[in-house]
Amino acid sequence: MRAHIAVLPGDGIGPEVSAAAVAVLREVATQAGHVVEFSEHHIGGIAMDETGEPLPQATIDACLASDAVLLGAVGGPKWSDPQATVRPEQGLLALRAKLGVYANLRPLRVHPRLAAHSPLKPENLAGIDLLFVRELTGGAYFGRKQREDDAAIDECRYTVGEVERVVRRACGLARRRRRRLTSVDKANVLETSRLWRATTTRVAGEYSDIALEHQLVDSMAMLLLTRPSAYDVIVTENLFGDILTDEAAALAGSLGVSPSASLGDGPRGLYEPIHGSAPDIAGQGVANPIGAILSAALLLRHSLGLDAEADALEAAVDAVFEHDELTRDLGGKASTQQVTAAVLSRLAGKCRVAA
Ligand code: NAD
Ligand code: IPM
Ligand code: MN
Repeated sequence: MRAHIAVLPGDGIGPEVSAAAVAVLREVATQAGHVVEFSEHHIGGIAMDETGEPLPQATIDACLASDAVLLGAVGGPKWSDPQATVRPEQGLLALRAKLGVYANLRPLRVHPRLAAHSPLKPENLAGIDLLFVRELTGGAYFGRKQREDDAAIDECRYTVGEVERVVRRACGLARRRRRRLTSVDKANVLETSRLWRATTTRVAGEYSDIALEHQLVDSMAMLLLTRPSAYDVIVTENLFGDILTDEAAALAGSLGVSPSASLGDGPRGLYEPIHGSAPDIAGQGVANPIGAILSAALLLRHSLGLDAEADALEAAVDAVFEHDELTRDLGGKASTQQVTAAVLSRLAGKCRVAA
C-alpha cells in the first residue's frame, strides 16, 4: 500500500505531538511493508508569521493532494490579541471546510490504569465507551459574524442537508457498536435545535435497529458526569460537541489522550488530538503524545483501511498505560519522547507484512 500524508504541526505543543504520531506511523509502515510518505506544511500562527495567512494556498493544495492530513494544534498567546482580525484558529476552520470533513469522531474510553486521574469515582467510570459525532462544518462557527461598538453577532444556521448527513454517519457508526444514538440539542430554546431534532428523528427512523433518544445539552453535560456509561454514540452540533468532548475527555484522566477523526464523504480525513496548543507547557518536552498517536490509529483505520495496524497501535498504547509509562498530566515523569519510545517498543513486531 502507498499513501501520502500531509503533516501540519502548527503551534505550541503541536510540533511535539505530531512528531510522535509521525514516528508511530513510520514504524507501522516499515513493519507492515507499506510505503507512506510525509510532507510538512504550515497552518495557524506559524503560517501567519511566514505568510500573513493562517491557511496558505500551498497548504490547502498539499492537503487536497494527500490521502490523509495529520494536524498538531493551532493558536497561542502570540496571536490572541482580541482586536486582531486574522487568527490561527481561522486556518483550522477553513481547512475543515475545504476538506468537507463534516463529521468529527471523538471516541472516549477510560483505561483502568488512568482512573485515579479522573475526577469521577472509579465505580462511575466502569464501562464508559462513548463515540461523539460532532458536526464540524456548520453552526455558529461558520455563520455570519458582525461586530459593532457595543454589540456582536454570531449567526447560527443549519440546513436540513447538513444535519441529515452527519446523523446518517452517526447511525452508520452506531450500527457497528451498541446501536444506541443520543442526539443532543437545545430544542427548548433554539430554532436550529428544533430543526436538528426533527431531522434527526426522521433520519434515525430509517434505521429500525437503532434506539434514538434526545437530550438537552445542559442536562447532557450533567449526565456525562453522573451516568457516562449509559451512552453509546452521541451526535450533536458543532459548538455543543466542542464543549461536551473536552468535558468528557477529562473523565479519561487527561485532555491529552483524546483523539479525533474528521471525515467527509470520501476516504480522506483530517486527524488531530482534541486538545489545543497548550501554551503553558509548550517547548518543555512534557506534552502527552497519546491523543496524537491515537489520532494516527484512526487515520490508519478510516483513511487507509488498515484496521489490523490501527488495532495494533491502540493495543500498544494500552500496554504503555498498563506499565505506567506516563507524562506529567497523568501523574508520571516520562517526557513526550519517552512515551513515544514506549509506544514504539510495545508496537515492535505487532504489525505483519501484508500478503
Ligand atoms: P488546550 O487544550 O491547549 O490546553 C488546556 C489545558 O490542557 C492546559 O493546561 C494544557 O497544558 C493541557 N493540555 C492540553 N493538551 C495537553 C497534552 N497533550 N499534554 C498535557 N497537557 C495538555 O486549551 P487552551 O489553553 O484553552 O487553548 C490554547 C490554544 O489552543 C488556544 O489558542 C486555542 O484556540 C487553541 N486550540 C487549538 C485546538 C486545535 O488546534 N485543534 C484545539 C483547542 C484549542
Ligand atoms: C477543537 C478546537 C477548535 C474548535 C478551535 C481551535 C477552533 O477547540 O478542535 O476542539 O473549537 O473546533
Ligand atoms: Mn475544542
